[in-house]
Amino acid sequence: MKIKTLLGFCLLFFISCGSFQQKADFPVVANVQLNKTLLAVSIVADSLNVPWDIQLIDDHQIMFTEIAGNISKLDLNTGSVKHLYSVADVYHKRTLGLLGMCLSPDFKENPYVYISYTTKNSAGIFSKLVRLTYNGDTLGNPVTLHTIPGSTGHNGSRVTFSKDGKLLWATGDAASDTFAQDSTSLNGKILRMNPDGSVPNDNPIRGSLVYAWGFRNMQGLTVSNKGKIYTSEHGDAIEDEVNLIKPLHNYGWPQIEGIHDLPSEIAIAEKSPRTEPIRSWTPVIAPAGLQYYNSSAIPEWQNSLLLVTLKSQSFRVLKLNAYEEKIEQEQVFFSKHFGRLRAVAVAANGDVFLATSNQDWNPQPGFPKNDDDKILKLSPAKNAVHKPLRAEDQETIGANTSGAALYKAYCESCHKENGQGVSNTFPPLSGAEQTLGSPEQLLRIVLDGLSGQITVKGKTYDQHMPAFNFLKDEEIAKILTYIRSSFGNKAGAISVTDVTKARR
Ligand code: HEC
Repeated sequence: MKIKTLLGFCLLFFISCGSFQQKADFPVVANVQLNKTLLAVSIVADSLNVPWDIQLIDDHQIMFTEIAGNISKLDLNTGSVKHLYSVADVYHKRTLGLLGMCLSPDFKENPYVYISYTTKNSAGIFSKLVRLTYNGDTLGNPVTLHTIPGSTGHNGSRVTFSKDGKLLWATGDAASDTFAQDSTSLNGKILRMNPDGSVPNDNPIRGSLVYAWGFRNMQGLTVSNKGKIYTSEHGDAIEDEVNLIKPLHNYGWPQIEGIHDLPSEIAIAEKSPRTEPIRSWTPVIAPAGLQYYNSSAIPEWQNSLLLVTLKSQSFRVLKLNAYEEKIEQEQVFFSKHFGRLRAVAVAANGDVFLATSNQDWNPQPGFPKNDDDKILKLSPAKNAVHKPLRAEDQETIGANTSGAALYKAYCESCHKENGQGVSNTFPPLSGAEQTLGSPEQLLRIVLDGLSGQITVKGKTYDQHMPAFNFLKDEEIAKILTYIRSSFGNKAGAISVTDVTKARR
């Protein structure tokens, strides 16, 4: 009798605890005013280490990856974060590590989670596609579906499901000159497979996973309600892209970058068809996560691609036309407000989640903040508690743009605001013999790009700098005059005539 009463009491306590469960009180850190809708931006998780992908488990739970190899879930009711899994054989360095993730479309019946990550062994660096099983509390039972060549950069990658239930994997070109244009290589491709990794019977090349080709380093992948597939991709020094993916189309890399505008590119595309991006950006913005949006919760954004960016540290809304084949309008939000943004997800109720990437290898001035990295939630609000932010006017580069602004647009992401570069990766321009030396040598570097080992201020670098011959002579003259007279440098100006003479 006594025990029964006790049990009853416990049960009552349990039930009441459940129904009076504390709702998390997420701090609102900004408001955004759209044409009609007011949004609140709140921090739902902080102090993370480069959350790379976010997925919704259900209406109140998020699963996310962090680049060093952890997968966790966040309860949006309570704000609690629970660790689910650590990838044992992940290789994390700079841009490499645990990257894209997706859940089965029928997650309740098939509780599978698919992850793409970098691994390293005595044979080299590889990218792996692995399936995990979720039991509500942990993830486990890893099954490797595919292993492909990787590199110290350009490993992509994202995974998602197509509307017809196939698993799509956007792979990087592994910094190879040949993979992306080689239809027998699985790098630099959109791969299409059955959920167990096998080749579907209706793939465009019989017996091959290759669905589309000619890609460099894709960082975003999403599917619209109509089933259209879109990617975001990093260009070299120019032409970051958003592509609309069609079966067996060749997107041109590395023979063609972005829009077919150079005579050499037009000649190649005339010989065999290549598909142009539906949007490209020069100067580059470093596009990352991409997510199709069609919820009535934020009507202004219906039928749009939501894009987050690293270099330009912004959130962009790319409004699609009715056929979902063209981008009609681009709006930019949050420039430099939250720093680098890596991932975007949309909940069934239309709330939008963004993840910052300020703890990564390339933080921008003013970041990381003490509580980085964060997951932010954007949701409709009744009242503003901050002066609302609005879509921003985009900076355009024109004849009056200063050397400092051109440097910011084209060089600063690598050589940094203060010209000090990034140790072991991007050499300094401040006090560097190549920057201060003969104008001819400096012009060769900027016009042709630079690879192979060089020594700068006594330290060796062995990386790749893209060519900037697409810039106008006036622009190059302004940039070089700027770097020779900034960061403590005191060398003579470079004239437009110097640049024109150096062209070949
Ligand atoms: C994507 C990153 C990146 C961008 C953008 C970039 N550089 Fe570089 N730059 C490099 C790397 C890497 C090297 C060293 C190359 C090597 O190791 O062979 C380098 C080397 C140099 C050097 C010679 C070494 C030194 O430090 O003086 C100069 C000069 C230079 N860059 C100028 C520029 C200018 C001017 C711009 C903008 C127009 C620019 N770079 C944009 C990555 C970049």
